[in-house]
Amino acid sequence: MSSPVSLFLTASLAASRAFAAPQDIPPAASFYVPTLPGLVQDEENPLRMFAGHIPSDPDAASLPSTTVYAHTFFLMIKARRRVDKERILFWFNGGPGCSSFDGLLLESGPLRMKDGILQVIEGGWDEYSTIVFVDQPPGTGYSYTSTNRYVHELTEAARQYMEFMRNFYKIFPEYQEVDTYLGGESYAGQYIPYFADSMLEAGLPRTLKGVAIGNGWIDARRQYPAYLEYGLKHGLVEAGSDHYKKTKSETDACIERLKKIKDKEPVKESGCENILAVVAESRNKMVEGNITECVNIYDIQLDDTYPACGSDWPYELANITEYLQRKDVTAALHATGKSTGWIECDSAVHTAMMNQNSESAVALLPRILEKVSVMLFAGDQDLICNYVGIEALISALTWNGETGLGKVQTQSWTVDGTPAGTWVTSRNLTYVKIFNASHMAPYDNPLVTHDMILRFMGVNFSSITDGSARIPSSVGDDVKPVFVPEDQKPTPPPANIGKTPEQDKAMWEAYYNAGSAALVLLLIFLAIGVFFWCRIRSRRRVSQVRLEEESIPLHSSVDDDEGFRQRAGKGKERALGDASEREEMFTVADSDDEDEFKSPVPTR
Ligand SMILES: *[C@@H]1O[C@H](CO)[C@@H](O)[C@H](O)[C@H]1NC(C)=O
Ligand SMILES: *[C@@H]1O[C@H](CO)[C@@H](O)[C@H](O)[C@H]1NC(C)=O
Ligand SMILES: *[C@@H]1O[C@H](CO)[C@@H](O)[C@H](O)[C@H]1NC(C)=O
Ligand SMILES: *[C@@H]1O[C@H](CO)[C@@H](O)[C@H](O)[C@H]1NC(C)=O
Ligand SMILES: *[C@@H]1O[C@H](CO)[C@@H](O)[C@H](O)[C@H]1NC(C)=O
Repeated sequence: MSSPVSLFLTASLAASRAFAAPQDIPPAASFYVPTLPGLVQDEENPLRMFAGHIPSDPDAASLPSTTVYAHTFFLMIKARRRVDKERILFWFNGGPGCSSFDGLLLESGPLRMKDGILQVIEGGWDEYSTIVFVDQPPGTGYSYTSTNRYVHELTEAARQYMEFMRNFYKIFPEYQEVDTYLGGESYAGQYIPYFADSMLEAGLPRTLKGVAIGNGWIDARRQYPAYLEYGLKHGLVEAGSDHYKKTKSETDACIERLKKIKDKEPVKESGCENILAVVAESRNKMVEGNITECVNIYDIQLDDTYPACGSDWPYELANITEYLQRKDVTAALHATGKSTGWIECDSAVHTAMMNQNSESAVALLPRILEKVSVMLFAGDQDLICNYVGIEALISALTWNGETGLGKVQTQSWTVDGTPAGTWVTSRNLTYVKIFNASHMAPYDNPLVTHDMILRFMGVNFSSITDGSARIPSSVGDDVKPVFVPEDQKPTPPPANIGKTPEQDKAMWEAYYNAGSAALVLLLIFLAIGVFFWCRIRSRRRVSQVRLEEESIPLHSSVDDDEGFRQRAGKGKERALGDASEREEMFTVADSDDEDEFKSPVPTR
């Protein structure tokens, strides 16, 4: 029997079995994931993974025992190689409501789904740092809670995250002493400052060192008006055209609305959310009066079928979803507690996150920057959270005694001899613009973004003898020191006489390293070849459509853009489909407020 009621009971029984009391935290060993179905591990250098649910509802102790309260899912991959010191980075995708498996399988993580086969790639951030992918707020990805306990405010998301962290450190206490970073993308531009602020306030851990946000949605006041400027710079809007006039009047109306909000920095403003669609209009292709193609709003180098416009991209997502919904995969990840299975983006979680009281994360940045480093990075081909808006927010931000970047020079950044982007740091804030990269920058070039995060984390490159961190790179005149094997040093020691066993060992290690450097280079060329091949393939139309639309802070509801309205309508229908399915299992609070959240446009 699989009525919704029995599913509900199964979920709550599973939960109470696993965690009879909120403080009943399972041991680390119970989270160990030896491997994943279909994954061919490198025996020399396997992924060491831990995954499962951690209770994350700070009010759990006071709830009736039948309540299904928040269980946050994480997947941790331990650093595979040694460097100067240990580091740990927690990664978050956006939405709200999108799973951090996007990060694991498409971006900062070492795994990719190529042609339906799970593979390990070079450039995963787990190579030199432990990385933890967190599905939050509860309800997202494999995380679960009853729907009437979904999070409505960023402040509440941060409270639940802190409860997750407290319990995480009970299981893995050693990481409380390790240099800690937060990273993520898109709507995580809201989460990450909130989480960092709470961590700094609680002193948990005392070792928080920095946060990195990619194409973040951080500052509505600067980011909505930036659509027009980005469109002008990147050929989506032609100055003086009728399309320009239309976009300009939308933007001016938006700015007027934003000016009226004086009490706080808004997370979003419904009167501004149509600008994106209007800017993108110029790329619509028509066949007999019907729109058939449109620009991919996450990568303007690409076109997509209408009305998806990027929402079913990257196309690996269909296979990823199928994989993560498999019973054997769910079991291997210790995620069976999520009775409804994995979806990429949960629209009910998205809809619940209304932020009627929380201010936008930009308001928190100055006090975070007093204590830790912040890196804002942006793939320059993304429209939805574009770099022009990020630059505008930096120019308007006052931190550590000054407004904007000040007199510092922006420098060119190269990786492996190719221009990778621009780099600038001022008073603990680093801004990196990444060339030829989308909203999901690590998807486009994992080795480039890996170099970026290693630099941001201050990895001592001189001490690295192994792996992809040896790929040459530079920021301005600051050239990455490259480990020079003994046999390639300018003045070799005279002859072979009198060598200690240690010297002998060093010599053989040096030969080994020279060999592996050549191998790494070969692999890089191969990877680049495969990348381009896949990229060309990915432009072909695929018939699979993602089951679940990504949700975002942005919504288009103005009637004059038929295209995006229809597309958004598709998202809404799915949203309602999901929510009503779940309503039978749990009660959905605040369903009246749903009307405010028509037509989500996907963001990750
Ligand atoms: C999805 O997996 C199938 C094999 O199961 C493969 O043929 C197909 O190319 C994959 N799709 C993408 C977009 O990688
Ligand atoms: C255009 O859309 C209309 C209404 O949806 C449909 O009936 C018609 O077949 C479409 N034309 C083409 C060429 O696709
Ligand atoms: C930057 O961060 C450090 C801590 O990492 C702090 O001591 C310093 O005051 C901050 N401010 C400036 C202007 O560097
Ligand atoms: C960016 O991509 C374009 C076209 O794909 C190419 O012509 C250009 O050289 C690339 N630039 C960099 C810096 O890689
Ligand atoms: C970096 O590592 C090298 C080689 O181990 C060491 O000599 C150097 O002192 C380190 N630099 C810093 C700043 O720790």
